[in-house]
Amino acid sequence: AIQWRGVIAEYADRLPDHVQTHVVTLGEGGTPLVPAPALDRRTGAHVLLKVEGQNPTGSFKDRGMTTAMSAALHHGARAVICASTGNTSASAAAYSAAAGVTCAVLVPDGKIAMGKLSQAVAHGARLLQVDGNFDDCLVAARKLAEAYPVELVNSVNPDRIEGQKTAAFEIVDRLGDAPDVHVLPVGNAGNITAYWKGFVEYAVDGPATRTPAMWGFQAAGAAPIVLGHPVTEPETVATAIRIGNPASWDRALAARDESGGLIEAVTDEQILAAHRVLSREVGVFVEPASAAGVAGLLMMAEQGRVPHGARITVTVTGHGLKDPQWALRTPDGSEVRPERVDPDVVSIVRALGLEEA
Ligand code: F0G
Repeated sequence: AIQWRGVIAEYADRLPDHVQTHVVTLGEGGTPLVPAPALDRRTGAHVLLKVEGQNPTGSFKDRGMTTAMSAALHHGARAVICASTGNTSASAAAYSAAAGVTCAVLVPDGKIAMGKLSQAVAHGARLLQVDGNFDDCLVAARKLAEAYPVELVNSVNPDRIEGQKTAAFEIVDRLGDAPDVHVLPVGNAGNITAYWKGFVEYAVDGPATRTPAMWGFQAAGAAPIVLGHPVTEPETVATAIRIGNPASWDRALAARDESGGLIEAVTDEQILAAHRVLSREVGVFVEPASAAGVAGLLMMAEQGRVPHGARITVTVTGHGLKDPQWALRTPDGSEVRPERVDPDVVSIVRALGLEEA
């Protein structure tokens, strides 16, 4: 096909039948692997970015939402619910609009980025701000879905994982085999679970001869898996991964250990520094949480722990326009204001410091 048809049509033979009877798609998946010479230089590896911000709603969640929403229609659901730090709610709202079902989202009060909030509202979701954090929202959403006729579309829903594993397939299909290392940010730990499932399936009976080491990175203020215990008050600028008690904790540990990988923490400073490298030297604009994987990779390089010449893929999970405020801050935290000039060439030349030709 000339046009990418969405992950259910493209990977039909590797997805369950029940997501294929009432397919809800917005053309998700088929995202590019973008070379990042600036990261090659810093790491001594060959780094490719899987740019998931190019999905329909601007994050990787769409891969799992096409499958979860299609399954919901198959089950005859009329309403769906999710807890979210923002991207899941944006995706659920858009796919609910496409499916013609009612969508309710629970988000932590005041801690969700404006772009994501506006998406959920624009697509007509019932948005409730909960006086609590993401973990509180998820507990409530799970209880609700047990007691009422609404389908839960968080990543604890196995159909979400099925859809999200297609990103691993795309990487192997493009490279011809699995990379040496796959790097990604970890929040509720659904995505690392999904990538690992995809890489394993492709190594068992697909085109891959091996699986990559999985390197996951949490934000230091929200790093329960690294610390080995839940964090009751998670804090980080990377609001998407501000999560203290990840639902797929065990499966993240399994992915780490079975793959010979690691899960470590990066500070907000490291996240914002990586965000700047991606913006200024690679040309890829991401939201802060999406820079956590790159921050981790750069930290590993500084510690001399990146194998020379390794082929490394890094998922950058969400688009920069979701949460653009960080681009308008200098490293010392002050606000960037556009320079004003008069509308004449002399003023503009002077402002830019141009020499005469
Ligand atoms: N990056 C972004 C941009 C995210 O939105 C999330 C999760 C993650 C990384 C972490 O992925 O949870 O599968 O480990 N966002 C969820 C949400 C929690 O509600 O949008 P994970």
